[in-house]
Amino acid sequence: MIGVIYWSGTGNTAAMAEAVGKGIAAAGQDVVVKSVSDVTVDEAAAFDKLALGCADMGAEQLEDMEFEPFYNELEGKLSGKKVVLFGSYGWGGTWLDDWAERVKAAGGEIVADNVAILGAPDDDGNTQCEAQGKALAEA
Ligand SMILES: Cc1cc2nc3c(=O)[nH]c(=O)nc-3n(C[C@H](O)[C@H](O)[C@H](O)COP(=O)(O)O)c2cc1C
Repeated sequence: MIGVIYWSGTGNTAAMAEAVGKGIAAAGQDVVVKSVSDVTVDEAAAFDKLALGCADMGAEQLEDMEFEPFYNELEGKLSGKKVVLFGSYGWGGTWLDDWAERVKAAGGEIVADNVAILGAPDDDGNTQCEAQGKALAEA
């Protein structure tokens, strides 16, 4: 079972999460797609493979009220896990690079390129998300 866990304020990253989940399912793996509001850190840490998504917020940061505290706690449990990162941004788009460094420093393995999409995913964006999900499933 692979977990896709995301934070999304206006739905763009949520749409990406669904596409990542679709790619995982298409690769023949079971998948759960959940908003961070609907999952505990322990539930998230039970997955060996995780696709984590968060919109670019603050100033090139993770959303700070809900996702950052969640991720901060999960970070200590990422060692040995296979991880991919995705999210939507508005004008910058560097937050995923910083986040990937955090994952690696925590001992997580980033197994596919980050997928950052400006605004809502179009057909090409959905294809990128599905490919990321497939790569995680096959990693
Ligand atoms: C409070 C706030 C802060 C934001 N900060 C950034 C930012 O630092 N860099 C950026 O590229 N986009 C920023 N954005 C734009 C969002 O990342 C963008 O609208 C994105 O598509 C939202 O995705 P969502 O629909 O999943 O919430 C910000 C948006 C809000 C509301």
